Amino acid sequence: VGSPVVLGIESSCDETGAGLVRDGKLLGHAVASSMDEHARFGGVVPEIAARAHVHAAAPVVHAALADAGLTMADIGAVAVTTGPGLSGALQVGVAAAKGFAYSLGVPLYGVHHLAGHVAADTLEHGPLPDPCMVLIISGGHTSLLLVRDLARDPIVHLGDTLDDAAGECFDKVARVFGLPYPGGPAVDRAAREGDARAVAFPRPLTGPRDDPYAFSFSGLKTAAARWAEQHRQAGRELPVADGAASLQEAVADVLTRKAVAACVEHGVGTLVVVGGVAANSRVRSLAEERCAARGIALRVPPLRLCTDNGAMIAAVGDLLVRAGAEPAPLDVSIDPSAPL
Ligand code: KG4
Ligand code: ZN
Repeated sequence: VGSPVVLGIESSCDETGAGLVRDGKLLGHAVASSMDEHARFGGVVPEIAARAHVHAAAPVVHAALADAGLTMADIGAVAVTTGPGLSGALQVGVAAAKGFAYSLGVPLYGVHHLAGHVAADTLEHGPLPDPCMVLIISGGHTSLLLVRDLARDPIVHLGDTLDDAAGECFDKVARVFGLPYPGGPAVDRAAREGDARAVAFPRPLTGPRDDPYAFSFSGLKTAAARWAEQHRQAGRELPVADGAASLQEAVADVLTRKAVAACVEHGVGTLVVVGGVAANSRVRSLAEERCAARGIALRVPPLRLCTDNGAMIAAVGDLLVRAGAEPAPLDVSIDPSAPL
């Protein structure tokens, strides 16, 4: 008897994801996004996200099953994101997961969203070495984590952002630069035509007295807004490509510098970069350069596994099942502000 097929459901923000994993292998997945509905508000509107999950939950699960060539009857366990995230959005995914688990008579597992981001990489590159350093960079998080056995050991939280997340910084500055939402991919695209040395944006918290693993991006956002404002007041056209390239360079520099320093300091030989901002081309190239210089193995999952998805939640569920972890009760609650 092999291990069961695990259905993973993710609904913590604006993506409704479903994925199917067995024995560390991705069998199929599907994602629906309400991103377009939030675009004109410049950010995710919780109420709109929650309603979109209601519409997408069942179709996304069916699409994932179709992608895997499986049926409902093949599902042997259900895993769902219980937090952190938007409470209304989480409620919908958890309610759906309980419905599937109860009607199929299979165990239910609650999963921490960030553990999901970490596990995403295992679907592409196999089991994670113990220990490894994980840099999680998304619209909601910027954290450096020391990870041992995901299913058994608590994740050690080395540092976090003191204010905005890296993705939030990209999203907010993109807005000031007149680029479309979501800002991260737009900044990345605009930066291709720009000069990364054009504007000397600050590298926050990189001084000798600063916490080596803490991040701060709100000052960078303010510096970018001030730079744009100076151009407007002078009646000059904004060199958006140069601004985007310089901002991206500053963010990528700080993120990779601290992540590599954390590996060196803790004697860890593998750095895993996950979350939506891991899709950034400069973050990737600078991480490659700096890890290579220090003999650190770098693992970055493919783009489709970097952003929020259900497969990463199924991946954690699969690890929990195989580790013999206790399932969650069917009345498990959401934990919107779940600590690490
Ligand atoms: O992991 P994710 O899908 O959702 C969570 O926040 O949990 O990450 C979304 C974030 C957004 O802020 C988006 O702008 C950013 O990832 N992002 C990027 C890129 N692609 C997505 N940021 C920079 N460069 C990109 N290519
Ligand atoms: Zn995420």
